[in-house]
Formats: sequence, C-alpha cells, structure tokens
Amino acid sequence: MVVQQTQVIDVLKSTFIPGTKKMLLSSGMLRGVDVKGDKVSVSVTIPKISDENLNRLKEVLTKRIKGLGATEVNLEIDFKKEQKIKYSIAIASGKGGVGKSTVSTNVAVALAKLGKKVGVLDADIHGPNVPILFGINERPYVNEEKKIIPIERYGVKVISIGFLLENPSTPVIWRGPLVTKAIEQLYNDVEWGELDYLLIDLPPGTGDAALTVTQSLPLKYGIVVTTPQKVSVADASKALSMFKEMKIPVLGIIENMSYFICPKCGERSEIFGHGGGEKMSLENGVPLLGKVPLEMKVREGGDKGIPAISMEEDTETKHVFMDIAKRIIEVS
Ligand SMILES: Nc1ncnc2c1ncn2[C@@H]1O[C@H](COP(=O)(O)OP(=O)(O)OP(=O)(O)O)[C@@H](O)[C@H]1O
Ligand SMILES: [Mg+2]
Repeated sequence: MVVQQTQVIDVLKSTFIPGTKKMLLSSGMLRGVDVKGDKVSVSVTIPKISDENLNRLKEVLTKRIKGLGATEVNLEIDFKKEQKIKYSIAIASGKGGVGKSTVSTNVAVALAKLGKKVGVLDADIHGPNVPILFGINERPYVNEEKKIIPIERYGVKVISIGFLLENPSTPVIWRGPLVTKAIEQLYNDVEWGELDYLLIDLPPGTGDAALTVTQSLPLKYGIVVTTPQKVSVADASKALSMFKEMKIPVLGIIENMSYFICPKCGERSEIFGHGGGEKMSLENGVPLLGKVPLEMKVREGGDKGIPAISMEEDTETKHVFMDIAKRIIEVS
C-alpha cells in the first residue's frame, strides 16, 4: 500500500514524547520524511530522553506508521545538544536610554578580558542595536545542522534578534508568541558552545516586551541598570520587582551616567543627581555593582562600534567596567 507523506507527518504531530508531556513536533525538529512506496524513513531531533523512553518512542512510531500500510520503517532520532551556559544574566532597565546596551556590551568584553567565555544575546525587540556597539555589519552564518554561528568580536560571541529581521532598522510589531519563538530560537539554535556568562540585553522597561523575553529564557540572574536620577530609579525599581515576581535573583544594580568627567579639565559634575543607585541598593538589599561615569569616549566608542573598554586610551570608565566584571564574578 502506498503511504502518503502527509499521513506520516500527521502521525508525528500526534505522538507524545514518552516521559514528557510534549508532542513530538512541538518540541522536536523534523529533519526529513522520505516515502518510497511502502518504505518510510523519518529523521527527527528531539530533546534528550532516557534510552527506555527512546525505545518506547521508536516502538510507538513504528507501529503507527506500519498502521498506515508501511512495511519498512526507518527511524533516525537524535537529541538536541544541551547548551552549556553556566550563568545567563538578563540586563534590564526601568526606562529606555539609560545605557543598558552600552553597559551590557562593555561588561561582556570586560568579563572576556578576565578570561571568561562570554556571549551577548541582544533581545531588545524594539531597538536591537548591540551589533552597532560591537561594530558588526554582517549577518551570522547558519551551518549544515541549521545552527546559527554567533559573530565574535572582542572575545565575545554576539547574536541579535535584529539578525532575524529582513531590515533591522524597520520597526516591527512583534506579537507575543512570535517573540517567544524567536527568543527561544536565539537561545537554543545558536552554537554558543560552552559559556560562563550569557548577557541578555532586554527590551527597555517592564512592559509586555521585557516580560515576554524574560519568561522565554532560562535565566539564572538579573541585573538592573539605572541612572542616579529620581525618575530613573523609580522606574528601575519596577525592573527589580519584575525579577522578584519571576523569582529570578538580582545580582546587583549598575548605576550609569553617575557623574560627568569634563574631557578638557577632568572635573566631575553630577548632572543627573546623586545617590540613586545607593538608595535603591540599600532599600532593596541588592548590591551596587558599580557607578559608571558619563564620559565622552564611551559615546564615541559606541558610535564607532568599539566598546569603550577596548579603546586604546586609558579612561576611568575602563577601570569601572573591569571592577564591575570582577564583582559579577565574585557574586555569581
Ligand atoms: N557612560 C556613558 N558615557 C557616555 N555615553 C553613554 C554612556 N552610557 C551610554 N551612553 C550613550 O547614551 C546613549 C544611550 O545608550 P544605550 O543605547 O546603551 O542605552 P539603552 O538603555 O540601551 O537604550 P535603549 O533603551 O534605546 O535600548 C548612547 O548614545 C550611548 O553611547
Ligand atoms: Mg539598548
């Protein structure tokens, strides 16, 4: 009896993976179905299960496909490679423009300078600009196993949700399920290899976008970026609450644009006020990981695609970012 390919796919769609509550095709990836008369070959990648459950799955599938009239069934089932990411840390801010991406980028490079294996996942669906900060103009390469190969800069593996878009500068309206799927893909289908730290640049704020991204990833910790300004601190507290509600421990707060260093005379002025980060840290019992000055070189580096920490000139910011990276290693 001739078996139809669509019938085989229907069987795959309606089979549970033993030992899980998941359907084969909702959590697995179909690599191919080949039907030649009454001979059927299927290759599929699934999350790891025990040998016993794998045998049960093979039995069930063989029986069901034979039930369609096949006389010979070849199953090639392999397991998704587990990601070896030690600490995935989401970087959040209560509001936009406080320097979340700048901080993520520089802290990532600082951690790499300290010998750690580091990745950055730019999950800011509203403005994925981490590639700009790293000076990346190209798109990542996808290998034969359909794995996305991250782009490496300054010792850091970088992937951005912008890479999934036709034109990253055109605003997109992402719907919840699409965001979840895209973020999961960036986490699971990227060849991160072994990482000590994966820093995730979240969309600004604590609205739907930030929440969806946060819920879609297996996060170990959160970090909150704020400026010393009252309004920024008030908003950043919401980011702390977001992590708390999701039961994600917060590693600490980073205060950015803490004081301005005049490029001519070196004088410090606290243009955004003083003490916001400290107050937040004390009130919430969360460490203040560091205070990053507002320095011309940081902005210049960002625009040129060179993280301030990798610039030749010796700036105060460089030392601050190195200290923050050391603190992160201590507390994580
Ligand atoms: N410490 C700093 N010194 C000087 N300029 C800075 C500093 N931090 C950030 N900037 C500049 O401020 C601007 C905003 O920074 P950035 O893009 O990192 O913020 P963001 O919080 O990620 O913003 P968005 O909410 O749009 O994602 C950039 O032009 C950046 O170069
Ligand atoms: Mg940003």
